[in-house]
Amino acid sequence: MSVSYNEKERVFRLDTPGSTYLIGLVDEEGFLGHIYYGRRIPDDNMQYMLRVCSGNYVPFRDKGDQVSFLCDLPTEYPGCGLGDFRESCLRVETKSGARACGLTYVSHRIFGGKPALPGLPATYGGEQDCETLELTVRDAVLGLTARLSYTAFEKLDVICRSAQIENNGGESLKLTAALSACLDMDNRDFDVLTLHGNWAYERMIGREKLGWGKYRVSSNRGISSAQEQPFMALAEHTATQSQGQVYAMNFVYSGNFLAQAEMSQQEQIRMVMGIEPESFGWRLAPGGVFQTPEVVMVYSSRGIGGMTRTFHDLYRRHLVRGPYKDRPRPSLINNWEATYFDFDTEKLLDIARTAAESGIEMMVLDDGWFGRRSNDRSSLGDWTVNEEKLPGGLKYLSEQINALGMKFGLWFEPEMISPDSDLYRAHPDYALQIPGRSGSLGRWQKVLDMSRQDVRDCVYAQLHKILSSANIEYVKWDMNRPLTDVASFALDGDRQGELHHRYVLGVYEMQERLLRDFPNLLLENCASGGGRFDPGMLYYSPQIWTSDNTDAIDRLRIQEGTALIYPLSTMGAHVAACPSHTNSRSTPFATRALVSLPGCFGYELDLTRLTPEEKAMIPGQLEDYRKYGWVFRTGDYYRLASYSENGEYDALMAVSKDKRIAVLDYIHVMSRERRKTLCLPLEGLDGAILYRSSETGEVHSGAAWMYGGLMLPKMKGDFLGKLIVLEAVET
Ligand code: DGJ
Repeated sequence: MSVSYNEKERVFRLDTPGSTYLIGLVDEEGFLGHIYYGRRIPDDNMQYMLRVCSGNYVPFRDKGDQVSFLCDLPTEYPGCGLGDFRESCLRVETKSGARACGLTYVSHRIFGGKPALPGLPATYGGEQDCETLELTVRDAVLGLTARLSYTAFEKLDVICRSAQIENNGGESLKLTAALSACLDMDNRDFDVLTLHGNWAYERMIGREKLGWGKYRVSSNRGISSAQEQPFMALAEHTATQSQGQVYAMNFVYSGNFLAQAEMSQQEQIRMVMGIEPESFGWRLAPGGVFQTPEVVMVYSSRGIGGMTRTFHDLYRRHLVRGPYKDRPRPSLINNWEATYFDFDTEKLLDIARTAAESGIEMMVLDDGWFGRRSNDRSSLGDWTVNEEKLPGGLKYLSEQINALGMKFGLWFEPEMISPDSDLYRAHPDYALQIPGRSGSLGRWQKVLDMSRQDVRDCVYAQLHKILSSANIEYVKWDMNRPLTDVASFALDGDRQGELHHRYVLGVYEMQERLLRDFPNLLLENCASGGGRFDPGMLYYSPQIWTSDNTDAIDRLRIQEGTALIYPLSTMGAHVAACPSHTNSRSTPFATRALVSLPGCFGYELDLTRLTPEEKAMIPGQLEDYRKYGWVFRTGDYYRLASYSENGEYDALMAVSKDKRIAVLDYIHVMSRERRKTLCLPLEGLDGAILYRSSETGEVHSGAAWMYGGLMLPKMKGDFLGKLIVLEAVET
């Protein structure tokens, strides 16, 4: 049993295979104290961890100093204005302008499985997978109830949290912050891990020592963003890939977020995560309910690598959905970097024919096929085929591509509107816009008001028509600018603070509709590359375009950061043109393929311009993808060496769950003269199994490969690499 309540101790416990989480009811008032989160322990009677009766702490019932009690109490879901001066999860304003909220225990429920969150993406699991604790707490003065949900997974060190706020009082309230989770702990000399970046350099790993005050990452761009990830982990300062404790949070949400770690006066740590409060305000009428998105908490006592593998398993099994959840993803050719806007049917078919000859399985037509779009200045919103470029339309094109034995996929950017479009001329109010301001363009476009049902219906009807008009088996859903001028013609003045969140809910609603109407569709999300790579999007699309940076060497860092929490099976990765369109670097064709191979593999260049030698390599690369792609997709991921740390070489390895095969993707980035061959200790093998190396034919035990190591092949020159397979030898 993973969740239980010890009535005598007044302690709730949640157990996962390697962790325990304890919540205690404190004092007669029933405050929710946070007692413990860490390695699994058998005890419940650990109220002493709260220290409410010793040292500086005084019990709340000693009414003389409630402030000293609340300001240091490790707590589960802090309110505001009553003595806890750290970050609060719930901030409420009454009509009279009072800003205070204090929540105490009312009741609880424990049940098998995990309820879905209405209108929101979330991890899922049945009774055999997880158990849920729902704690109801209340502020009697406000007449406000919060239901705090904690789901513990049976086989993974994961606890998922969210909160549902209900106004049971007689007057309207305003939520000015409604975060999803809080974790209070003692300091253990923590480093804070985050993923930061910018366009074309998404998800760079950051590691800083956590000091006094607040360390915060956030997005106010309306999307989770390339700049910061909705992720934060506290890792013991000495933690490595394989050792040390790590506490991580990741937000299953695609809009504005806040992730913050705070060290307060008693050297206590508070980590919180949720919707970013500054751009948020929600009017809760009597009877109204607000549901926060979900935070995934992962605990690892096996270092950063342990955290990574837990996230991967959770997202592969309990977040990604649909027919492609466990299926190989088709190798593809995308025409964007091959043609940009300059294409016609014949040019596309030339590329498709070369692709088909090489064995590529799908052709994706990117931006520029609709309206009068010959550059990025027009036509978003007018989703009708440009028959000047594509005579016979998509039906003809897709039939020709299908006749070559390939699937056909198509690009859309449904959330946007070009001022130069028929849609904008007819409905300027469909765009987000502040009355009296002209509205800021980004990439020459405005953002549609996705909070509006009529706007969504209008765009969706066009998408539906196109997708029903031809055999389109894949959609790339792009989103190429952040939200600004955030105001809606359809919302009252005092509800404009709801718009960011309503926008995200609108996007989710539309993607859900798409999947319902086209259940076999493979959806890939994208936002100027990887600007909205988050668990919320993964609930709808099993893969996301990782970055517009397709240079193989830059991609090493981007993919390393992405794989810190997201499975390799979710990362779009393409062999692109050379010199790179991003940074003009030249890398060998073979290396570009090696870097892309662990992800959702494809090509994005003009195949008709490859040299005969390069063209001849494609079938072998596709064969590797077919033969070993499943190990990367379904196996355990080990980060063995990081080019961004050592400046010289990169190595990742995937080991199949049955430990019979391991695939090592080694990239020799910069040559350095060494007298000795580099020896790389492997991880994750079965010490007792014998494995043969595809590189040398040598057979050694898993123990030898792990504790001795594997001699990396010597290479002369830069930007080279090797795929090395270790397969179990039948004995
Ligand atoms: C941004 C995407 O990341 C690219 O792959 C491409 O689809 C362009 N948009 C098209 O405008």
